[in-house]
Amino acid sequence: MRERTQVGIVGAGPAGLLLSHLLHLQGIDSIVVEARSRAYVENRVRAGVLEQGSVDTLRDAGLDARLRREGLVHEGIQIQIGEHRHRLDLKELTGGKVITVYGQQEVVKDLIAQRLADKGAILFEAEDAAIHDFQGERPRITFTRAQEEGEIACDFIAGCDGFHGVCRASVPPGAITVYDRVYPFAWLGILAKAEPSSEEVIYVNHPRGFALSSMRSHEVARLYLQCRPDEKLELWPDARIWEELHTRLRTEAGDTVHEGAVLEKGVTGMRSFVAEPMRHGRLFLAGDAAHIVPPTGAKGMNLAVADVRVLSAALSAFFREKRTDLLDGYSATCLKRIWRAEHFSWFMTSMLHKFPNEDGFGQRLQRSQLDYVVSSRAAAQSLAENYVGLPFGA
Ligand code: FAD
Ligand code: DHB
Repeated sequence: MRERTQVGIVGAGPAGLLLSHLLHLQGIDSIVVEARSRAYVENRVRAGVLEQGSVDTLRDAGLDARLRREGLVHEGIQIQIGEHRHRLDLKELTGGKVITVYGQQEVVKDLIAQRLADKGAILFEAEDAAIHDFQGERPRITFTRAQEEGEIACDFIAGCDGFHGVCRASVPPGAITVYDRVYPFAWLGILAKAEPSSEEVIYVNHPRGFALSSMRSHEVARLYLQCRPDEKLELWPDARIWEELHTRLRTEAGDTVHEGAVLEKGVTGMRSFVAEPMRHGRLFLAGDAAHIVPPTGAKGMNLAVADVRVLSAALSAFFREKRTDLLDGYSATCLKRIWRAEHFSWFMTSMLHKFPNEDGFGQRLQRSQLDYVVSSRAAAQSLAENYVGLPFGA
């Protein structure tokens, strides 16, 4: 199979799929090459919090019909210190902005349905994808699918293939600088058929470690526990997970956790990572392929949306008017938002987790920061502004 398209996209996660749709709205043709099956990408449980700007982007792209029906609009979040919960009124603190809880896999399902309805090409189960000649004007993507060799010739390649993808790894050594930090803990996450512990997302700093209570609906809870980076899932039967959740999410008022059938569980490592610049010749990296944040700030999927907004506008200016200035500015434009989110995610992670081997000085600094955030309007406002997401262009 040999095909030609304007933009060859590697990866059918939120970044690749949304880019393909935004380009389609501008009359630009693309083909998405994805290693996994449709069922796999549609059922991969990951992030759940959409910033206002991401919701607006999906709405403007005509993708919000189900999001409006099923997404849960949250006007606040809770920070729990020990057994005491404090509410941060995001809406009031940010002059009206809110977040929406809607699972990443629901965004992915909506995007795939829309791309297929628009006759968009998504090549699932494409193995051994490789990218070629992106330093010149005629880049190519090759792969194997159903035992057949495939090749896509394109004008540009968008590397939307996540942290472990091939695109970033294909850039010659030295052309990209990497900044990273790995944290000494991970998250054990479950999805459970259970009533959420509160109507709002709760971030808990507990002496036994961080916990997070979120949800996917009024009947499905999404819960996380800080665990060891090399944690073995076999050591966590459901009963042990529930016991730990009861302990960490308990408040002065008592137990707040409702148990139910565990639908999914997994361990997610925690790292901060940025690759600069996000472009090499005619290869543009977007989303997790270019950067990773620890999930505590709920920024991962939102950054992916922001990147492809910028990239689709830059590609559109190129194809319509032969302008290259926006493509040239792509990396710097995105990196401003990315570094803010990197800082915020590092800040939330540092404030809320138990650090192994932390001395008394470090523990007291952490406690002071928590007390400040829940008692000072200025500190709460800064957290809220970052949490709901900074405006595009800022
Ligand atoms: P991805 O969603 O990773 O999509 C990349 C796609 O490329 C995948 O479909 C992959 O199969 C495909 N691909 C990879 N390699 C190849 C290849 N060689 N050829 C073809 N296709 C390829 N963020 C939060 O805010 N909160 C969370 O709780 C949270 N939990 C997470 C849990 C896990 C296990 C992970 C990995 C991430 C989590 N994140 C979370 C981060 C968030 O989900 C990501 O930031 C988001 O998925 C980024 O979207 P993306 O499209 O850039 O990358
Ligand atoms: C969820 C994930 C996060 O990383 C977060 O900070 C808040 C909520 C969630 O999966 O719902």
